[in-house]
Amino acid sequence: MERIPVFKPLIRQAEINAAVAALEMGWLGMGRYVGDFEAAVRQFIGVEDRFTVALSTGHAALHLALILAGVSRGDEVITPAFNNIADFQAIRAVGAEPVFCDIDEVTLCIDLARAAELISPRTKAMIVMDYDCVLCDHDAAQELAHARGIRLVHDAAHSFGGKYKGRTIGSFSDICMFSFDPVKTITCIDGGMLVVRSAEEAERLHEMRLIGMGQPVSVMYENRRAWTYDVRGPGFRYHMANLHAAIGLQQLASLQTISENRQKLGRRYNDALSRLPQVVVPATDFTDITPFLYYIRVPAEERDALRAHLTDKGIDTGIHWQPGHWFSYFKDCRRGDLSVTDRVGHQILSLPLHSDMCDELQVRVIEGVVSYFRS
Ligand SMILES: Cc1ncc(COP(=O)(O)O)c(C=O)c1O
Repeated sequence: MERIPVFKPLIRQAEINAAVAALEMGWLGMGRYVGDFEAAVRQFIGVEDRFTVALSTGHAALHLALILAGVSRGDEVITPAFNNIADFQAIRAVGAEPVFCDIDEVTLCIDLARAAELISPRTKAMIVMDYDCVLCDHDAAQELAHARGIRLVHDAAHSFGGKYKGRTIGSFSDICMFSFDPVKTITCIDGGMLVVRSAEEAERLHEMRLIGMGQPVSVMYENRRAWTYDVRGPGFRYHMANLHAAIGLQQLASLQTISENRQKLGRRYNDALSRLPQVVVPATDFTDITPFLYYIRVPAEERDALRAHLTDKGIDTGIHWQPGHWFSYFKDCRRGDLSVTDRVGHQILSLPLHSDMCDELQVRVIEGVVSYFRS
């Protein structure tokens, strides 16, 4: 019986050919493909007045986003406690402290009323994250950040390719971050990106991603490098490599098909599993959404047994995530009431979702869940 993994990257001949071409080109580091990938994502987002900067990972993107936002030692950054560890570690990496906020019961994204209560004189920024296939209330988040004078980092690792009120994700945020890691909707094997509003911010990112070197991108994107330059500030080795960008370009070219497939799979899961009274499905009809994950919520006392039942049927499941304050490294962080997060952390379960998942595999997953609750 074929084991069904939670994630499965879509790597076809086009990606393999692109990787071979990048290797054969002989310029392995940052070069032409990186410039092309940034331009392609910018065109996809469809805004002239934003700048896309490709980075090595989503985590690196978050780290640099917080530096751009002016967050430093002693500051606080509000984040949903129900978020990826990359966000918490990025906050600590700039010497700041995460402040854990609860999530909304329906969207599983940050509860903005509670976030407002957590803002202190030390708050420099807030991270809002789209959890999987349901988006955060971005208008309200922007209003809050604007009113309280804090920067807003939009973690769109899960929502690349989607739209919020008709606007493409990446086109409207203060600072927007994408991840193209191995399991994301589109992958560069590993990769990240920031979308920023000004040429000045983009230029700072260009320097910071290259250990501070003031290399002009116009030179780098011709597969060349300058040998003399200034170093004006801190830097990290966070650039994207040509090989990764070449793969990302192929993935981006297939995004429409990937989105349609994932939407269809999400709708079928929702339709079948919402019939089970014990299961809560994501609150979306998948219009304008490219789901990265498919999750359900089940009674906490059933989750382990359901996972074991599915494992017996060759079906893998995942847990996205354990909340931040459950980890010993973050247990002392300031927080508000986290009762929704605590409840959801025990109920959440990710089911397999692949861009090219065939009907037969999805039916096996659905029947696996249904057979647990109907037996
Ligand atoms: C919400 C969220 N933010 C950030 C990241 C980190 O991205 P990366 O794996 O590219 O470092 C992830 C990765 O899974 C994520 O899910």
